[in-house]
Amino acid sequence: MRLGTPLSPSAVRVMLLGSGELGKEVAIELQRLGCEVIAVDRYAGAPAMQVAHRSHVIAMTDATALRALVLAECPHLIVPEIEAIATDELVKLEAEGVATVIPTARAAQLTMNREGIRRLAAETLGLATSPYAFASSEAELAEGAAKVAGFPCFVKPVMSSSGKGQSYVEGPEGIAAAWRYALEGGRVEQPRVIVEGKIEFDFEITLLTVRSKGAGGEIETSFCAPIGHRQVKGDYVESWQPQAMSPAALQSAQDIAAKVTGELGGLGIFGVELFVRGDEVWFSEVSPRPHDTGLVTLATQYQSEFALHARAILGLPTDVAQREPGASAVIYGGMEAQGVAFEGVAESLSVPGSDLRLFGKPESFERRRMGVALARGADVDQARERARDAADRVKPVKA
Ligand SMILES: Nc1ncnc2c1ncn2[C@@H]1O[C@H](COP(=O)(O)OP(=O)(O)OP(=O)(O)O)[C@@H](O)[C@H]1O
Ligand SMILES: [Mg+2]
Repeated sequence: MRLGTPLSPSAVRVMLLGSGELGKEVAIELQRLGCEVIAVDRYAGAPAMQVAHRSHVIAMTDATALRALVLAECPHLIVPEIEAIATDELVKLEAEGVATVIPTARAAQLTMNREGIRRLAAETLGLATSPYAFASSEAELAEGAAKVAGFPCFVKPVMSSSGKGQSYVEGPEGIAAAWRYALEGGRVEQPRVIVEGKIEFDFEITLLTVRSKGAGGEIETSFCAPIGHRQVKGDYVESWQPQAMSPAALQSAQDIAAKVTGELGGLGIFGVELFVRGDEVWFSEVSPRPHDTGLVTLATQYQSEFALHARAILGLPTDVAQREPGASAVIYGGMEAQGVAFEGVAESLSVPGSDLRLFGKPESFERRRMGVALARGADVDQARERARDAADRVKPVKA
């Protein structure tokens, strides 16, 4: 793909479906390469919209609205940033040759539903996963939990992300509440959940995996250093890179990631989520796009996950080398308010080796991610301490 000049006939036009903080960094990297960036989300003033050439507010789950917008904008590339998109329509648009969907429309379709990707990983590819069952009623859930997953287990709507509608269930008495909670948190009218047995892992990682074009035009797969992270209620609160692991575990993590990303195909970065205990590795899930825990790469790699994604999708060479150890810590809104201000920014940035991203989200919620503190360090422990310290010093306040 030949790069051109934005807003001219030679422009490479890229449409972001989803314009959050991850999309914002992708947009910045695309802007640096002179792409024309069109940001789309369901609300105005979303982070990536603030750094795009144009933006549109539509319901991305509305197939008709999505098609109309794509036909009006004629992007060369469509880059999903979130899961909740009318992916069936993306499949049609791709088949009609209207645009290239990143990494592929099928990958977006399979990963928006936990059932699609879990069956592919466990049943088609034979990867190790937690024991699981699917259920469309409370009775089916109770049976799947008792017979397949065991207790404790996790119950998750098949269409949901960031921990929404998810429960940790310790015994049969918790099933009814988990079913009700999943109904509230899921995205669709027809309720369906996955119940998964708990994996007793030592730690969990995101293995950022890049599919990009090599010198001869063939697709190469490369792996960033593993990212460790800590989740609270299904939402990441801190991440670090590298996560120390045994050579055998790293090898099997890379083997799993190569298989699943090879099956999904296309170009771009993937966040492969894995559980690790000793030398054993289980596949959890995969996002065919930059991963929130990968925000740490803004501090640790020569090319962040966003730069890697931008380069890979444009067919350009990538370099996954890590520069130094680092960490990220999330800054939450802590309140419901419009147009918050941030106190303590200077104090935060005076932490040695620290950096900050404030996402510019127009509205703050108690548990909404409004920014992230980043830090490098001599080792991961020092970087984590610095990132947490830097995050703690930033206080969102009512303007
Ligand atoms: N089967 C399991 N065994 C052990 N821990 C689990 C299991 N399933 C989920 N978890 C824990 O819950 C977290 C969130 O689960 P999962 O990644 O499936 O949800 P999610 O809503 O897709 O989250 P996100 O969108 O933030 O990645 C995991 O990172 C892990 O810490
Ligand atoms: Mg996850």
